[in-house]
Amino acid sequence: MKKRSLLTSAISLLGVVFVFSMVHATATGPADTMTMNSKVYKKHKKVLVTFTHKKHNVDYKIACADCHHVYKDGKNVWKKTEAVQKCDACHSEAKAPKVKKGEPKIPKKEKITKYHYSAIHENCVMCHKDLKKAAKPTGPTACKDCHPKKKK
Ligand code: HEC
Ligand code: HEC
Ligand code: HEC
Ligand code: HEC
Repeated sequence: MKKRSLLTSAISLLGVVFVFSMVHATATGPADTMTMNSKVYKKHKKVLVTFTHKKHNVDYKIACADCHHVYKDGKNVWKKTEAVQKCDACHSEAKAPKVKKGEPKIPKKEKITKYHYSAIHENCVMCHKDLKKAAKPTGPTACKDCHPKKKK
């Protein structure tokens, strides 16, 4: 009898340790929701966008590497156990300048690689658009649905 209760308490202690470490792991991971507020923009013209990070990963089943990357020779070599840099660490300029009439357009790839505005919209909006085309549950594709009202 005594042996048994000792075993039971050992098991429940293990359980507590396990649950604690799970809670601890989530507490130190990325935030469940994030207010996108890149410092590359001198001033935000739009209301800040709230991004449901955890929902996108867990509920919408999107893999970490669909959004996070470190490219080497054109291949994404980032692994989900590695550190994550903010998008603007690499897509470090705000928005591509308007090209004047007659001037060559900036190639799309160059725009995305350089400018935060292009990279973030390519990531968020293109996925939503592709899913919409495929008639699957999706997120907003219209400007006003992510940026509801203009900031004064
Ligand atoms: C749908 C896209 C998407 C998915 C899926 C996703 N993330 Fe993120 N994650 C982001 C965005 C966007 C940010 C904010 C980056 C920024 O502020 O520049 C971010 C931020 C983070 C941060 C915080 C970085 C910081 O310095 O603030 C970590 C850590 C992170 N993600 C890890 C992960 C891991 C691990 C997974 C998978 C379990 C994952 N992410 C899945 C888009 C995504
Ligand atoms: C370590 C630097 C780095 C970080 C951090 C980074 N990117 Fe990129 N990203 C690049 C480079 C370089 C390319 C161009 C890759 C190529 O040659 O095709 C790229 C390409 C892209 C592309 C187009 C190709 C693709 O993978 O879909 C999108 C969209 C994009 N990044 C969005 C983001 C977003 C959103 C974040 C933040 C969650 C982010 N990037 C963080 C360096 C980075
Ligand atoms: C790879 C695909 C993918 C990417 C990348 C992605 N989303 Fe989504 N998003 C979804 C899907 C799928 C849903 C909704 C699914 C559902 O309702 O079942 C969604 C829903 C949303 C919603 C509405 C519901 C909610 O959770 O708030 C918002 C707002 C949103 N996304 C914003 C963003 C932003 C901002 C980014 C970029 C930082 C982003 N998404 C990147 C696939 C994506
Ligand atoms: C899926 C959501 C989504 C949609 C749709 C969307 N955006 Fe964004 N937009 C974002 C996110 C996320 C950022 C990055 C904000 C940050 O990190 O500071 C952003 C940044 C911006 C910025 C730079 C920051 C600022 O406030 O000045 C502008 C301007 C902007 N978007 C305009 C637009 C316009 C115009 C459209 C329609 C053509 C549009 N967006 C559609 C999510 C979205």
